[in-house]
Amino acid sequence: MTNFPAPKPSVLMAAIFAISAVAVTGCSSDKDTKAIDRVEEAASLARVQALEARATELKGNMPVATEGSASADGAASASAKPSIKMPDESTIPDDEYGAAVRRGLQIANHTYKELPNNVGNQLNCTSCHLGNGSEAYAAPWNNITSIYPVYRSRAGRINVIQERINGCFERSMNGKALDLGSDDMNAMVSYMSWLSKDLPFGVSPEGRGFVKVDKSLKPNTDNGKKLFAEKCTVCHGAEGEGQYNDDGSYVYPAVAGDKSFNDGAGMARTYTAASFIKGKMPFGQGNSLSDQEAVDIAGYFTHLPRPVKANKDKDWPNGDAPKDVRR
Ligand code: HEC
Ligand code: HEC
Repeated sequence: MTNFPAPKPSVLMAAIFAISAVAVTGCSSDKDTKAIDRVEEAASLARVQALEARATELKGNMPVATEGSASADGAASASAKPSIKMPDESTIPDDEYGAAVRRGLQIANHTYKELPNNVGNQLNCTSCHLGNGSEAYAAPWNNITSIYPVYRSRAGRINVIQERINGCFERSMNGKALDLGSDDMNAMVSYMSWLSKDLPFGVSPEGRGFVKVDKSLKPNTDNGKKLFAEKCTVCHGAEGEGQYNDDGSYVYPAVAGDKSFNDGAGMARTYTAASFIKGKMPFGQGNSLSDQEAVDIAGYFTHLPRPVKANKDKDWPNGDAPKDVRR
């Protein structure tokens, strides 16, 4: 996956200087400027200042042109990346956009309950995208609306953010795609755009995707089974089936069986799951497993019985599928 190169700061700065020059020469010479012109003038100066601040920020984040993979590979070269933080909920505006942001946050945390027609298991987006989809190394959504569209090799095409979200509906949620223009899709994208509001445009933040694991390690699934029983079943159940409240919502989510993600999901791939659990599981004890332990456990639980995704053979149409992809 490759992002478009960010604009060169020099080009951006030149454009901004051109705008500033117009703004400056176009003003104070006329002493009779009406009040309304002064207001517009102040507004345009404020816009120029905001652009300049943005350019400085962007410059601080260069170079970014060559990275941007959401996979574990993207975790490299962390130094110059901006860090993420969920903005304070009090900053959600009290208007139509703000209402969509709130609805998006609600869907993210209660997807199973809110969208029964689109969810075919008993998970929520935040079962995997932890901390309201705003936690580093749990595939956070902060800045994602300025990073997409990106080319995705699984699809063999450029995907807009709505298509990427639907990828998780059809696989991680074992369900059905939302209409691209539906209010609920608009709500999810609005929420993601609000999460992105304080970040420089187009830059992958620190903690996008998951931590890295060594993909040359071979899974030992016998050891994985033993470790899963020791470290995971207390919450996720002996068969990975999860634990539930009376209303069907989970106490701990299913990692296998019919209430879990299907075999076409990213989480069903050994090394993707290993990256997630290495950084985040057992819950509250992230980074306590070795790479080999994470790969062993992931190789075991991802291959427990789970829903089957139809038409998986159409994925990666250009023959560049990673080795842990399920067929
Ligand atoms: C079973 C776990 C799981 C669930 C549930 C899940 N996802 Fe994902 N999601 C993933 C994985 C794995 C990735 C890929 C991360 C990577 O490439 O490193 C991902 C990636 C994404 C991305 C792209 C992130 C990036 O950095 O490019 C978006 C957006 C996304 N998911 C949205 C959603 C939404 C919205 C929902 C709920 C409808 C959802 N996901 C539910 C596992 C899940
Ligand atoms: C203390 C309880 C606990 C333990 C122990 C634990 N988990 Fe989790 N797990 C959670 C919680 C809580 C979530 C996220 C649910 C949420 O926030 O909505 C989660 C999420 C997950 C997910 C993504 C969601 C899903 O259902 O697919 C996977 C995969 C997972 N855990 C695997 C593991 C593995 C493997 C282990 C053992 C190494 C483990 N967990 C140990 C509590 C636990």
